[in-house]
Amino acid sequence: MTTEFAVELCEVTKKFGQVVAVDNISLEIHDGEFFSLLGPSGCGKTTTLRLIGGFEMPTSGEISIGGEQQGYKPPFQRPVNTVFQNYALFPHMTIFQNVAFGLQMQKVPKDEIERRVEEMLALVQLPGMGSRKPNQLSGGQQQRVALARALINQPKVLLLDEPLGALDLKLRKAMQLELKELQQRVGITFVYVTHDQEEALTMSDRIAVMNEGRVLQLDGPEEIYEQPANRFVADFIGETNFMMGKITELSEDRAHVLIDDQVPVRVLRTRDVRVGQEVTIAVRPEKFSVTKDKVREIDIPGVVEEVIYIGTDIRYLVRITDQTLLAVREQNSGGMAAERFRVGDDLHIGWYARNTSLLTE
Ligand SMILES: Nc1ncnc2c1ncn2[C@@H]1O[C@H](COP(=O)(O)OP(=O)(O)O)[C@@H](O)[C@H]1O
Ligand SMILES: [Mg+2]
Repeated sequence: MTTEFAVELCEVTKKFGQVVAVDNISLEIHDGEFFSLLGPSGCGKTTTLRLIGGFEMPTSGEISIGGEQQGYKPPFQRPVNTVFQNYALFPHMTIFQNVAFGLQMQKVPKDEIERRVEEMLALVQLPGMGSRKPNQLSGGQQQRVALARALINQPKVLLLDEPLGALDLKLRKAMQLELKELQQRVGITFVYVTHDQEEALTMSDRIAVMNEGRVLQLDGPEEIYEQPANRFVADFIGETNFMMGKITELSEDRAHVLIDDQVPVRVLRTRDVRVGQEVTIAVRPEKFSVTKDKVREIDIPGVVEEVIYIGTDIRYLVRITDQTLLAVREQNSGGMAAERFRVGDDLHIGWYARNTSLLTE
């Protein structure tokens, strides 16, 4: 069997007793891709990764790696390696021995092991550190050793389960860029699990957003952020304003929506809707602009209820109806307070049609 996919899940379900951890997932991961599974705690990310790695067996469905069905193959017979959150280095072994471990198991000749370990340590920016013990390294360095150990026998696919989760924020951000660059250099397919949406957006070629064992959207970072497919994705990724309304009229390319039975807006008709249908309009806070007069193609009058000074940004909470309060994020390019709106001011919230998500679920 030939296929271009590094990993293929076909209708995969995993149950633990009554718990459906993975619920009928089908997806394909391309060769050389940085692919992320993103979702809240308990949504089935780790289980999906463990199924690919062979640490769990599916209740039903099939998993192929490099075009070959894996069936019930154990982990060591699959062309994958795994990096866990807690490094899992052998504490009594040196860094060299930790990285060399996989090759020694395969009875690779000693001089070749030495050469390849040194290459790997250089690749993860730890040259010459081979004789140290894990406890003589920082958290970030230990995680690099774990990476070197997982990459050294050139797996087809590297599985990573929240590998940066134990690091502090600054180091995590640095390691995100490093890891992405490393992945591009070695060209190995990465399947990366994280609950951190910013991490997924920064690093991934594509992201599968999961909830309750299902994939709710599978797309590139920009599509996920700019065109969320449903309320869950819009809400989980970044911050979003939701406006609830009903479709009152449809034209060829526009849908007229009456928000809270009061405020009419005309948005792009980006999905199948019918007159009378209840819909949600989602707009990100930074897509709004607030002005004294109407200036944008979509416009809603409102009253300022709160002004929050963040430094880089000003955040306004603007009431448009009894039920709906909108968050607006404006860059603080002006500076002084005199130029800003104040609590109680009447203003207009405007935005572009292209920055609107029309959601039906
Ligand atoms: N070995 C197991 N036995 C029973 N339930 C499990 C087991 N592993 C995971 N689960 C359950 O499956 C669901 C998904 O878990 P998991 O894949 O670890 O989620 P995530 O990694 O997204 O936090 C959770 O409800 C979890 O409690
Ligand atoms: Mg997990």
